[in-house]
Amino acid sequence: MIPFIDSFGRQHTYLRVSVTDACNMRCTYCDPFRTGRFTNDRLLSMEEILRLVRLFVTRHGITKLRMTGGEPMVRKDILSLFHGIAELKTLYPLSVGMTTNGTLLCDHLPFLRALGLDALNISIDSLDRDLFRSITGMDALPQVLETFRRAQELVFPSVKANVVIMRGVNDHEIPAFVRFAAEYSLTVRFIEYMPLAQNRWETGRFLDYRSMKRIAEEEGTLIPMAYQPHSVSKDYRIAGSSGMVSFISSVSEHFCGGCNRLRLTADGRLRTCLFALPEMETDLRALLRSDHGSNEAVADAVRKALRNKWEKHPDPEILAATQSNVMRAIGG
Ligand code: GTP
Ligand code: 5AD
Ligand code: SF4
Ligand code: SF4
Repeated sequence: MIPFIDSFGRQHTYLRVSVTDACNMRCTYCDPFRTGRFTNDRLLSMEEILRLVRLFVTRHGITKLRMTGGEPMVRKDILSLFHGIAELKTLYPLSVGMTTNGTLLCDHLPFLRALGLDALNISIDSLDRDLFRSITGMDALPQVLETFRRAQELVFPSVKANVVIMRGVNDHEIPAFVRFAAEYSLTVRFIEYMPLAQNRWETGRFLDYRSMKRIAEEEGTLIPMAYQPHSVSKDYRIAGSSGMVSFISSVSEHFCGGCNRLRLTADGRLRTCLFALPEMETDLRALLRSDHGSNEAVADAVRKALRNKWEKHPDPEILAATQSNVMRAIGG
């Protein structure tokens, strides 16, 4: 096994795969203006994704996969990907997750569970139906709550609720989300609003994690949990319940020192950082489709990209000014 290690000694064991840049929502913090989409021939095929996943897992020590989008369930052939991954899971230690908006998933949950999906992260930015619709552009709160309920019923090893907090928009719902975590016995993650292209990020809308935590503590006592290596979140148990609350402080307190993440965009570019500039990406799709796209050539391209990986992401003001990345194509 030849591990993927960058010039700061960080081993990359987690691959996030954006399977499509299409989404049935239009969240205000992601891509409200619905800029252009990739055509089908620009998307990696499921066979190409599986080839890369197999290579990364069998030869380069990837032990954690997460399917993202856009919305991964928009892609009709996604189930074939899970079939392929299920086979890999019988031979290699592998945790498989999906980050989803929870609207197209419910009927497929038993099947996905049976195929070895371990971890579900479901976005839910408001518990108020009107506000949910105004943030996401979709009147889908009842559907998403039903997905949480089904996921609990099917006993997924991990179910988390992702809540992007925007000051003056949904920060007043932090206490309600703490109660939601307790009621559903799951983890609610309060996420700092990050600056990306076209999402109208501004400091006035930003709330840092310490402020979020103070508000959450008015609802219940939060007991700190041990830091998990490579984790993006600071985790707390809610006293007297089996619910948990976490904070993702990408902007106010980065966690890049423990970064173990590689990303594959929907059109097959390797990104060594969520915030990497377009010129830092590596076009693996072109390599795979060329006549010199051997496994060794792909691995070399990944290693070369890792030599240029940032030690940490630039400051938020710089990100806000320079980001040309649309979250919908990167997958978070
Ligand atoms: P777990 O495996 O459950 O920890 O999931 P995850 O946090 O890796 O994935 P998810 O897709 O649920 O992402 C939750 C939030 O964390 C999103 O806002 C992501 O953009 C953000 N996030 C995930 N990975 C990174 C990262 O490497 N760097 C930064 N800055 N943010 C990240
Ligand atoms: N800031 C923070 N989180 C974001 N996400 C999407 N855009 C942003 C942003 N600008 C989150 C989604 C989803 C995950 C993939 O990333 O809510 O949970
Ligand atoms: Fe779609 Fe997720 Fe972006 Fe919302 S955050 S528009 S659900 S990809
Ligand atoms: Fe890793 Fe970049 Fe995220 Fe930092 S911002 S944790 S370097 S992906």
